[in-house]
Amino acid sequence: MKRYVILISGRGSNMLSLLDAGLPGACAAVVSNRPDAAGLALAAARGIPVATLDHRGFATREDFDAALAAEIERHAPDLVLLAGFMRILGDGFVRRFQGRLLNIHPSLLPAFPGIKTHAQALAAGVRVHGCSVHFVTPALDGGPIIAQAAVPVQAGDDEAALAARVLAEEHVLYPRVARWFLEGRLGLVDGRARLAGETPVGGALHVPHIA
Ligand code: GRF
Repeated sequence: MKRYVILISGRGSNMLSLLDAGLPGACAAVVSNRPDAAGLALAAARGIPVATLDHRGFATREDFDAALAAEIERHAPDLVLLAGFMRILGDGFVRRFQGRLLNIHPSLLPAFPGIKTHAQALAAGVRVHGCSVHFVTPALDGGPIIAQAAVPVQAGDDEAALAARVLAEEHVLYPRVARWFLEGRLGLVDGRARLAGETPVGGALHVPHIA
């Protein structure tokens, strides 16, 4: 059975969507860089081994990355899922796990990398927003996109309303992509995401700007 490790920093709702999806693999551990991450208790309650590596206890990013890599490798995972993990990982770490390291980002990349994506989307006036799952490469939020889910931006949306609409799609999209990977259908080939087999896709989404 394939094994996966989930990295979190906070609430852990994406982590829960993965744990509760009945994925064809075993979650070997949930690791947080913050001791106060609420997701740790949620994982522990499901019997998943949890660990905290507080980045503030390390002198350099490289030291933290090395300790994190060692903690992950202990579990010999086939797949590592960043789920609301809010630390930038260095090139060495990313290269070590490249091809088996995924992230979910709350925007339709390449639009709005970084943080505060929903505020960025509202400020830009886009009519369609969403989330992306991508392979992680050294470029921040810039790795090959695997799948995206789109939602409309509705008149009167504020950051919280838009974030909630996107989050609901994150909880569907991430387990779906993780399943493809664990089924051996998804890989990083020549710098692009490759998915084998039949995968139904949706139609167009037309979203007017209503004044
Ligand atoms: C999610 O929107 C994720 O895409 C982003 O941070 C948020 C984390 O939420 N990177 P949660 O911890 O998964 O609930």
